[in-house]
Amino acid sequence: MTITVTPRHPALGAEVRGIDMHRSLDAETVKAVRDAWTRHLVLVFPDQQISDQEHVAFTRHFGEPEIFHQTSLSLRSDRVREIFLVSNVDEAGRLMRPSEPSQKQLSSSRQWHTDSSYRPIPSVGSLLHGIEISRTGGITQFINMYMVYDDLPESLRRHVEGRRARHDFGMLHRITGAPPPSAEEQTAMPPVWHPLVRRHPVSGRKSLYISSIYNDAIEGLNEDAAGRLIEELTAFSAQPKYMYRHVWEPHDVLMWDNRCTVHAVTPHDPDERRVMHRTTIVGNEPVIAA
Ligand code: OGA
Ligand code: MN
Repeated sequence: MTITVTPRHPALGAEVRGIDMHRSLDAETVKAVRDAWTRHLVLVFPDQQISDQEHVAFTRHFGEPEIFHQTSLSLRSDRVREIFLVSNVDEAGRLMRPSEPSQKQLSSSRQWHTDSSYRPIPSVGSLLHGIEISRTGGITQFINMYMVYDDLPESLRRHVEGRRARHDFGMLHRITGAPPPSAEEQTAMPPVWHPLVRRHPVSGRKSLYISSIYNDAIEGLNEDAAGRLIEELTAFSAQPKYMYRHVWEPHDVLMWDNRCTVHAVTPHDPDERRVMHRTTIVGNEPVIAA
C-alpha cells in the first residue's frame, strides 16, 4: 500500500489516505505510518468502518494494547477488553446522564491531559474511533508539546527544568466527584513521579510533560504553588498556534502520540449520543528525563 499524508494544521495533525483497517498492513506501510506519526504527532484516518476486533488488530501493528485497570465504572468494554469506552451510551445502548459515575469521571477529558500518565510506564499513544459523533461539540483538541517546550518563557522554564511532577489516578475522583478508586485499584496504581521535561525516544526531541487531570504535586513546591504552576503551564500550552482541533466525521480513527502531545475534548449537548472507542498502546520504557 502507498499512503498519502496531508497536514491539517502547521503545528500537528495530518490526514492519512490509502489505509484500509479491515486488512493487515505490510511492514513497509507500518513504517510509513510510523514515520508520518513521528512527524505529525496526530494522524487522522478517515472512513474506517471497523469492528472493535479490527481496531485492536490495527493497534497491534504499533504495540500491545493496554487493558484499563479500573473495572468498577464500566469504562472498559465487557465485549473486547482492550477497548476503553469514551461514550455517553452504555453497551446496552442506553444514553447515560452526566450525573452518572462513569460520565463524571469521563468529564475529566475536557481538561488537558495525556492518557495513562499515572502509570509508571505511561502509554505510547492512543487510537480513537468515532462511531457516533457529536455535532454540537465533542471536538477533540491536541497540542504540540515540543513547540510549547521550545517556546516556554524563561519565567516558566526555570520552574520545570530538572523537576518532576506527580501523576495520580486518584485525582480524577477529586476533580470530578466520580467515586474514588477501590482499595485494589488504588494499590494497582499508586502515584508516580515523571520529569516535567522529557525526551522522546524516537524523535529525540524535548517536550513539556504535564497532564493536568492527574498532576497533584511538583517537587520542591507546596500544593498551592504546584497547582498554580500546572495551571500556568496549561494556559501557555493552550494557544491556537500549537493546537489542532479535530471536528469528527463518523468513522474517523485518530492516532495520537501521548509522549509529546496533550488533548482535551470540548463539551457537547448531553442529550446527543456520542460513541467513541479507544485503544491505548502500552508504554515500552520509562519516561526519559531531559
Ligand atoms: C480520550 C479522551 C477525547 C474525546 O479518548 O483519551 O480524552 O474526544 N477523549 O472524547
Ligand atoms: Mn484522553
